Amino acid sequence: MTERIFNFSAGPATLPVPVLEKAKEEMLSFNGTGMSVMEVSHRSKHFAPVIEGATEGLREAMNIPDGYQILFLQGGATLQFSMVPMNFLGDGGKADYIVTGAWGVKALKEAKRRGDPNVIFSTEDEGFRSVPSQHDLRFSDDAKYVHYTSNETIEGVEFKYDLEAGGIPVVCDASSNILSRPIDVSKYSLIYAGAQKNIGPSGVTLAVICDEMLEKVPENQYTLLDYKVIAAKGSMLNTPNTWGIYLIDLVCKWLKDHGGVEEMEKRNVAKAQFLYDAIDSSDGFYKGHADPSARSLMNVTFNLPNEDLEKRFADEAAAVGLDGLKGHRSVGGIRASIYNAFPVEGVRALVDFMGDFAERNG
Ligand SMILES: Cc1ncc(COP(=O)(O)O)c(C=O)c1O
Repeated sequence: MTERIFNFSAGPATLPVPVLEKAKEEMLSFNGTGMSVMEVSHRSKHFAPVIEGATEGLREAMNIPDGYQILFLQGGATLQFSMVPMNFLGDGGKADYIVTGAWGVKALKEAKRRGDPNVIFSTEDEGFRSVPSQHDLRFSDDAKYVHYTSNETIEGVEFKYDLEAGGIPVVCDASSNILSRPIDVSKYSLIYAGAQKNIGPSGVTLAVICDEMLEKVPENQYTLLDYKVIAAKGSMLNTPNTWGIYLIDLVCKWLKDHGGVEEMEKRNVAKAQFLYDAIDSSDGFYKGHADPSARSLMNVTFNLPNEDLEKRFADEAAAVGLDGLKGHRSVGGIRASIYNAFPVEGVRALVDFMGDFAERNG
C-alpha cells in the first residue's frame, strides 16, 4: 500500500504529513551534514539547534513562562507515574490523586509503592464517564502535590479546565491532550506527556517543570530519575532520543505554521463535534461512553448494540481505510482518536461510514 489511510490509532498516532515529508527529505542528509539526524552525535554542533528548536518550539506553542524547564525524558509517561512519587512524595508521604480513568489508576498504583496517596475523587464506580468540577474537589492539607490526568485516553473523558489546588503543586499527565488547546502553564508545577500522540513519535517524554519543584528533589536521588540533574544537564545526562527530539522540532514548526494551539483547538472542537453529532443523532444505535460534559476532543469513545457489531464495525471500517478504531482491549467498544494531525476529511469519512453501517445493521 502506498496511499495513506486514515489512522485513528490512540498512539503512536498520525503525524502531520509535512513533518513526515521533511523527515523523508532529510533522511540521508540532515541539514546538509551528509548524515541522518539519527547518526549525528547528540553533543555535536549539528544536534544543538535541533534540541534548541524543539525546546523553544514547545515554549512558544505552550506559552511556557520563565521559571519552567522543558525536559526530554525516556521511559514513557509510565515512568513518570514512578518518577513523580520518587521525587516528590517521600517515604510514606501524602499526595492527592484524582482518578478519572485507567491511566490515573496506574499512576496511583505507583504512588502507593512509595507513600500514602489519598484518592480525593474517583469515578471508577460509574465506569469512568465524567470528571469532577473544580468545586467538587477538596484537597488535603498535607498533600505534597495533586495528581490528575487531563485526558483519559482509554475512556475518552477530559478536563475542560486547568485544575487549581489552592497552592498545592499540581502535577498533570497530559499525554493525550497536550498541545490540543491553550492551557495556563503557570497553574501547574509539573506537566508530563508521552510524545506519541500530539508531540511526536514514541520513545520520548516531555516534562515541563517549575524551578520550585526542582528544588524539592531529594538529595541522593538515582541520577537518571532525578529531574534536577536532568534539567541541569539540558536533557543530556545520557544519550537522549535524538530522532524523537528532531521530530518534535518539526511538529512544533508545523504547529506554528498552522496557527498554534489556538487554531488546533478550533479544529479539534469542530472535528469532535462531527463525531459526537453522529453518535447523538443515531437513535441510540451508537452510544457515547463519556458524559457529554466530559467528552474528550481527542478520543471519541462509543458503543454499538453488541460486541459482535462492534467487531464488525472496526473490521469493515479498516477494510475501507479507516484504521485503528477498535477500543482499548480493557474496555472494548469503539475509539476514534483524532489528535491535532488527524485530518477533518478522515472524520467526515468516519461519519459517512457510521451512517451507512447503522443503516445496514440498525
Ligand atoms: C493519558 C496517558 N498516560 C500515560 C500513558 C502511558 O504512556 P507511555 O506508553 O508513553 O508510557 C498513556 C498511553 O497511551 C496515556 O494515554
